[in-house]
Amino acid sequence: MAPIDPHSFTQVSHPLTTHVALSLYLDFNTSIIHGSALLSLSSAFSGNLSLDSRCISIDTVLDPQTLEPLPYTVSANPDPIRGTEIVVALSGQSSLLLVYSTSPSASALQWLSPLQTFSKTHPYVYTQCQAIHARSIFPCQDTPAARIRYDVVMNIPASLSAVMSARHVRRRLPVLEEAKHLQAGSSLWCAEDRVVEEFVMEQPIPPYLFAFAVGELGFREVGPRTRVYTESAATEVLDAAALEFAGTEEMIRQGEKLFGDYEWERFDLLVLPPSFPYGGMENPRMVFLTPTVIKGDASGAQVVAHELAHSWTGNLITNINNEHFWLNEGFTTYAERRIVEVVQGADRATLNIGIGWRGLTDEMERFKDNLECTKLKNNQEGVDPDDVYSQVPYEKGFQFVFRIERQVGRTAFDDFLKKYIATFKFKSIDTDTFLEFLKANIPGIEKEINLQLWTEGVGIPEDAYEPVSTIYTKIISLAKEFKEGKMPSEDEVAEWNGQEWELYLENLPKTCEPSQVMALDKRYKLAESKDYEVKVSFLQLAISSKCREYHGEVEKMLKAVGRMKYLRPLFTALAQTGGTEEKQLAKQVFAEARETYHPIAQGVVESILSKYI
Ligand code: BES
Ligand code: ZN
Repeated sequence: MAPIDPHSFTQVSHPLTTHVALSLYLDFNTSIIHGSALLSLSSAFSGNLSLDSRCISIDTVLDPQTLEPLPYTVSANPDPIRGTEIVVALSGQSSLLLVYSTSPSASALQWLSPLQTFSKTHPYVYTQCQAIHARSIFPCQDTPAARIRYDVVMNIPASLSAVMSARHVRRRLPVLEEAKHLQAGSSLWCAEDRVVEEFVMEQPIPPYLFAFAVGELGFREVGPRTRVYTESAATEVLDAAALEFAGTEEMIRQGEKLFGDYEWERFDLLVLPPSFPYGGMENPRMVFLTPTVIKGDASGAQVVAHELAHSWTGNLITNINNEHFWLNEGFTTYAERRIVEVVQGADRATLNIGIGWRGLTDEMERFKDNLECTKLKNNQEGVDPDDVYSQVPYEKGFQFVFRIERQVGRTAFDDFLKKYIATFKFKSIDTDTFLEFLKANIPGIEKEINLQLWTEGVGIPEDAYEPVSTIYTKIISLAKEFKEGKMPSEDEVAEWNGQEWELYLENLPKTCEPSQVMALDKRYKLAESKDYEVKVSFLQLAISSKCREYHGEVEKMLKAVGRMKYLRPLFTALAQTGGTEEKQLAKQVFAEARETYHPIAQGVVESILSKYI
C-alpha cells in the first residue's frame, strides 16, 4: 500500500475522487461547519479506502444509494503533518457520503469576530487550503494528484454573502429536505435568518484550490470578466483596489497571447482582511489577495500578474505533489515576469529578476544546513510544507525555465510553452514528465543544459542568470558603500520607489552600526513607509542591529497584519538576535497577536519561536 503523495493517506491503487458535493452549514457562534460530503470515485471499489482529514469529527458514513451505514475507522493518533486517516470499507460502491463537523481550530479556516473586521458589525470567515489544509474543511483525498469538480450548497446568515473558487449559481431560501443528514438539523437549516448560496465548479481542480469566503461583501466591476470584492463597509479599500487593478483585463489578454486561452471564464479578485497569510492565492475564478498589496504603485498589479499566471501554470498544469512544487511556482514566476514585461516594461521585469535573485541567494544561506531544501525536486517525506516554504521553488524554478528560454531562444520557447500547456492542461504531473516532454520537443537540450543538476542538484547552478541592469548594479554598489559609512544622496534616490528601496535594504549587511541605521531612517523615513516591503526590510535591519527604538513600530506592525511574508522575517529577526529584550518582545507580541492570525500563520510563527527560543 504505497501512498501517492508524502502529504496524503491516499493510496496509489485506489480510485481517485472526481466529484464532491458538499452541504455546509456555517455556524459563526461556534466557528464550526456542519457538513456532508458526497465523494464520487473514478470507479467502483471494494476494500479499505483511505481519506485525509484534520480535526474533523465524523458523524456517519453512508452508502448514498441505499443510505445504509458504511463501516469506517478513524486513526487514533493524528499524524502531526498529514492529520487523521479515515478508512471506509467499501464493497463495490463508487461513491460515499460522509456526515461530519469541522473544529474551531480547522487549519484552513480563519473565523473573524465582528471586531476583527472592517465593519466591526459582521463576522467573516475565509479559507486557505494550499498546501494541505482542504482536509480540515471536508474529508477527502487531499492530494493534487486527484482532480475534482464540485458543487456546494452553503447555508449562511442572511446578512452575509459568499464567494467561492466556483461559479455562483443562486442565492435562495433554505429547503427542509436538504437538512436531512446534517447534524445541524432542519430547524437550524431553515431558520428565518438563514439563506443558501449555491455554487458549481465545472473545471476539475486539485483540492488545494477549493476556496470560499463569507462576510458582508461588496464589489465593483473593473473589467468584462473581473470584479473586485472587499468588505462592503471598506469603501476606501474598494476604491483603491478598483484603481489598482484596473489593468487586469489587459493582463488577461496578454496572458492569453502568451500561454493560450483563459480556461476559467471569470477572473474575480477578493481583497481579504489584513490577517490573510499570503500575498495572493490563485484560487480559480476568485483570486484571494492581501490588502497590503494595494499601495498605489506597480507592485499590486504584479501580484495579480502572478496569481493570473497560475491560471495556466499551477491551475491548468498542477504539480502532482508538493515535492514538485517548483513546477507550479517556478513556471508561474517566469510567466508573471513575461506579463509584467509587456504591461510594465522590460526594466521593471529585470528589477524583479534582481529582487528574486537576492531572495534566492538569501535562501541558500538559510538552508546551508538543510541542502535538500535547495533542490527543485526535493524529498518531503515527514516534512511540513508550511515549514519549508521558501523562495527556492519560485526563483530557482524561474532561473531554470529562463535558462531553457535563453538556450532555445524566445520564439521557440514560446511555442514550446504553449504546447506544454495544451498537452497537460487539467492534468497533475511530476518533474520527470516535464523533462521527458522537454527532451522530446527540444531534441538535444540535455546536451546543452545539465537538466539533472538543475532539478536534483543543490545550490544555484553556475549557468544561472544574475541580472545586469544599470539601476540594479547601481543599487548594489550603493548598498556596498553603506558599509563604509556612506548614505545614498537625495539625488541618487530621487527616482526610487518601493522596489528599489527593498533591493537596497536587502543588500545591506545583516547588522549595521545602530547610529547609521537611525540616520538612514531619519533621512528617508523608512520605518514609517506605507510600503510594507520597505518597512519590513528596514525593521528587520533595525532589529538585527539592535536599534531598540523601533520595537514599538515592530509591535504595531506585527499586530496589524498577518501576512507571513512579514511575520517570518520580523519574528525570525527578533528570535535570532542575541538580546533577551528581542526574544521577550517576540514572545509577548505573539501571545497578544496570536488570535488575530490565520491558523497556518500561528503554526509558522510557533515553529520559528520554538527553533530559537
Ligand atoms: N500559491 C502561492 C501561495 C501559497 C504557496 C500558498 C504555498 C500556500 C502554500 C501564491 O501563488 C504565491 O506565490 N503568492 C505570493 C505572491 C507572489 C507575487 C510571489 C505570496 O503570497 O507572497
Ligand atoms: Zn504562486
